[in-house]
Amino acid sequence: MSGTALVGIQWGDEGKGKVTDLLAEHTHCVVRYQGGNNAGHTIVVGDEKYALHLVPTGILYEHCTPVIGPGVVIDPGVLLDEMTALTQRGIDPSSLKISGNAHVIMPYHLELDKVTERFLGRNRLGTTKRGIGPAYADKAARIGIRMQDLLEEKIFSTKLKVALKEKNLVLTRVFGRLPVDETEIREQYIEYGERLRSHITDTALLVQRALDKGENVLFEGAQATMLDLDHGTYPFVTSSNPIAGGACAGAGVGPRDIERIIGITKSYCTRVGSGPFPSEADPADAEVLVEAGGEYGTTTGRKRRCGWFDAVAGRYAARLNTLTELVVTKLDVLSSFESIKVCTAYRYEGERYEEFPPHQTIFNKCTPVYEEFPGWGGDITGARSLDDLPKEARSYLEAVEELVGSPVSWASVGPERDEIVHVRDVS
Ligand code: IMP
Repeated sequence: MSGTALVGIQWGDEGKGKVTDLLAEHTHCVVRYQGGNNAGHTIVVGDEKYALHLVPTGILYEHCTPVIGPGVVIDPGVLLDEMTALTQRGIDPSSLKISGNAHVIMPYHLELDKVTERFLGRNRLGTTKRGIGPAYADKAARIGIRMQDLLEEKIFSTKLKVALKEKNLVLTRVFGRLPVDETEIREQYIEYGERLRSHITDTALLVQRALDKGENVLFEGAQATMLDLDHGTYPFVTSSNPIAGGACAGAGVGPRDIERIIGITKSYCTRVGSGPFPSEADPADAEVLVEAGGEYGTTTGRKRRCGWFDAVAGRYAARLNTLTELVVTKLDVLSSFESIKVCTAYRYEGERYEEFPPHQTIFNKCTPVYEEFPGWGGDITGARSLDDLPKEARSYLEAVEELVGSPVSWASVGPERDEIVHVRDVS
């Protein structure tokens, strides 16, 4: 048995794809356990760059079985497009396994995501508008449609009819939109079901069997800890549980099936969408990070908000995920700074908070307490071992380990596969 969970410890986009790539050689099965096509993993393999939104990164490796677990919400049209695009680039998606229990993102979810955001006005969440929240809401309300429903026309028609009775009323009467067309959706989604039929299976059993055989299973988190529905900066979060604990429910394994938990963090911090961000940098520094780090969303193309590494949030994430190690990505992006800030505590109404505050007002209104570290003032993309890094960069990594309370195993120094430094053996 060897389960590894890979989780983002900030607000997403930490570069999880690159770490999956690093682990891929010894991985037999890669499982997505939450989220949907709101995610975006960019992986650079040789000269090829792949941006995957829904298909697990394991698809890129012949020896890996890619799995979409029951905790994921699936837009079948997007999934099929992604599979077609991969086929066109010579990657065979036939090994993809999809849980029959995964919920389906329906056209009315997309429409509701858009109109709800518009309705919220300046209080909007800044969602990816992919229908994620409305699909998870229907799942919790027990009126959702699951992938297995697409395989039986009668069941699907009944469930669709029930859902549309309410959805079309909400769309037309509350939001003043046009209703969605039942016949059109039924035909389209039954066709999707047919095209995906051979992939739909009991993925929890498949994953358990792999673990029983001693195979390495990677549970690939999408989004990140600070976007977790229960533990993130609610309501500016996604509607699922990206934390390592979410892998159990979302993939259908027990807590004892996961022994290694890798937290991925950028050497600085970014977030997209609305919500508090105590260590957000001033515009000049943020612009340097945006340009040096190419901080534009893989999924929406939105420019990301940029700031300094937040060690308070890092400690919180280390605790929530019981991290066994940290991987620091994009260390090279900090090369242009003479001095690098790290947020080590928050201050609110004269009080200092070293742990993540229990009340939202504190987090919303706090000011960051920074410690400054000397920059290294030179290109580090050529570094391949710890000794190749300037001493200031090594000290920075040590500070991150110390402040977060988790050992750093790797630090990436560029987007290419080999642009990475092994920091220490952890396991
Ligand atoms: P939703 O997941 O589309 O409902 O969006 C909810 C919040 O999560 C918004 O602030 C999004 O910007 C954010 N979000 C969702 N997916 C990602 C991601 O993959 N990276 C970064 N932020 C994300």
